[in-house]
Amino acid sequence: MFSQRRSHHSMATMLKLCWLAVCAVVSVRSTNPPHIVLIVADDLGWNDVSWNNNDIKTPNLQDLANNGVILNSSYVMPVCSPTRGALLTGYYPYHLGLQHGIIQGNTPTFLTTKKSTLSEKLHENGYTTHMVGKWHLGMCNWTYTPTSRGFDSFGGILGGAAGHYDYMSGKGFDFYIDRQANRSFTGHHSTETYTDLAIQAIKGQDPNTPMFLYLAYQAPHTPLETDPQYETEYSNVVNDKRRTFSGMVTQMDNSVGRIRAVLEERGFMDNLVLVFTSDNGGDVDNGGNNYPLRGAKGTYWEGGVRTPAFVYSKTHLDITGYTQSGMVHAVDWYPTLLEVAGVSQNDNIDGVSQWGMIKSQGASARTEFVYNIDEVDGTSAIRVGRYKLTEGNPGGKNDIFDVPLTNRRRRAAKRTRKRTTVKYRLFDIEADPSEKTDLSRKMSDLVDQLKDKLAIFKSSFTPAYLPAAEPKGKPRHWGGVWTPGWCAGDQ
Ligand SMILES: *[C@@H]1O[C@H](CO)[C@@H](O)[C@H](O)[C@H]1NC(C)=O
Ligand SMILES: *[C@@H]1O[C@H](CO)[C@@H](O)[C@H](O)[C@H]1NC(C)=O
Ligand SMILES: *[C@@H]1O[C@H](CO)[C@@H](O)[C@H](O)[C@H]1NC(C)=O
Repeated sequence: MFSQRRSHHSMATMLKLCWLAVCAVVSVRSTNPPHIVLIVADDLGWNDVSWNNNDIKTPNLQDLANNGVILNSSYVMPVCSPTRGALLTGYYPYHLGLQHGIIQGNTPTFLTTKKSTLSEKLHENGYTTHMVGKWHLGMCNWTYTPTSRGFDSFGGILGGAAGHYDYMSGKGFDFYIDRQANRSFTGHHSTETYTDLAIQAIKGQDPNTPMFLYLAYQAPHTPLETDPQYETEYSNVVNDKRRTFSGMVTQMDNSVGRIRAVLEERGFMDNLVLVFTSDNGGDVDNGGNNYPLRGAKGTYWEGGVRTPAFVYSKTHLDITGYTQSGMVHAVDWYPTLLEVAGVSQNDNIDGVSQWGMIKSQGASARTEFVYNIDEVDGTSAIRVGRYKLTEGNPGGKNDIFDVPLTNRRRRAAKRTRKRTTVKYRLFDIEADPSEKTDLSRKMSDLVDQLKDKLAIFKSSFTPAYLPAAEPKGKPRHWGGVWTPGWCAGDQ
């Protein structure tokens, strides 16, 4: 079971080996694969962390980032479920049928079980796997939920969002410990609940057994609710939504600090790789901000998909304390973290391992990626080198939104002329990260080349899986609790 692993841990043991009468002392590297902690923030935008914005207080994340590698060109999908599916499988959502929007409560959609998940792979290779927080990859049948997708333990919500204190999502309660609905956390903010559960998992774990912890906060996603002491830190912020949102970010930051302390105290940090990323850009209608990037959550503009991320490790990174500008996409975490774990995989995935880039300040393993292909909307976008081609409307929230200073209706820092009838747009993201200048008319030859490239990407798409809502999935049929058990398994 351990034979495929490559050793990464620097700890060495001296072994005396004898053959016939000849003995030699050799150094044998420990074969313990590193612990892996993957922290995903929810709706955290480009301008919502201290390394991009001095007004935001994230000292714990900042310290980990400063002592790790900040990823400055880290791309995710425009909304939650697609990013989570990409992260866990290494496939673009347009290869999973997840390219069109999020998974809705009583709709029988899910992450296909035909693809392996990162947690399944790590579990098969000796890891203890814990998931805490927001799942949002399907819950109409238990086979689609975390404890059937490679996680030994789960504590959190199966859907996309719930009240941070009451865990109510619409008319249904949504909070589970493994497969048991559990109301004992009601009244306790979700960020604290998830942190407590993560700490409990760490404390219950032998540091000599490799651990994978997938910690998916629902912060700073709506509803905008935070423990009051965090909001007080932003009493100077006039805009109500921005003030609460900022408090939620700082509460999450404080939680990461608590988790780090336990990892240190319990001896996990000497052999651990931690990844922090957001799932999509900031929601400008609910306190988030992506300035100076254009657009917001739900769009293909950079503000919707280019988000804060970093990697921290005390012992597994050769070079730290710098900002890496190489492109990374959410699909890359599956192969990257499997390489970290020393697990070989030859799945025909879209992701590429970025471990070389991250560990040794190397070049990115990719020169292009697909932002999305959504045949339902007729929209798509690709990146090739420095250029980005978009087809159709990249998204309605298409201004460069400044941080709101008052409670008056938000004003765009730069109002852009809305030309929604334009079919193709071309941007030079390296020279113009804010997408102010559409080059499509000036560089029509390049547009034609990229259209050919897009056609090749499109040829392999899987249709979006969009079944109708199922009334029988509604919580009122299940004692007021969102409960799996009303759809068939994946055929
Ligand atoms: C990160 O990217 C932004 C946007 O392209 C750029 O303005 C900034 O200079 C980059 N930071 C570093 C340290 O490279
Ligand atoms: C709910 O969770 C708490 C804390 O983990 C646990 O003590 C309790 O047994 C759980 N209740 C149910 C019904 O699972
Ligand atoms: C859930 O999926 C399993 C496994 O595919 C299947 O056996 C079961 O019948 C499904 N449940 C329902 C309610 O259809």
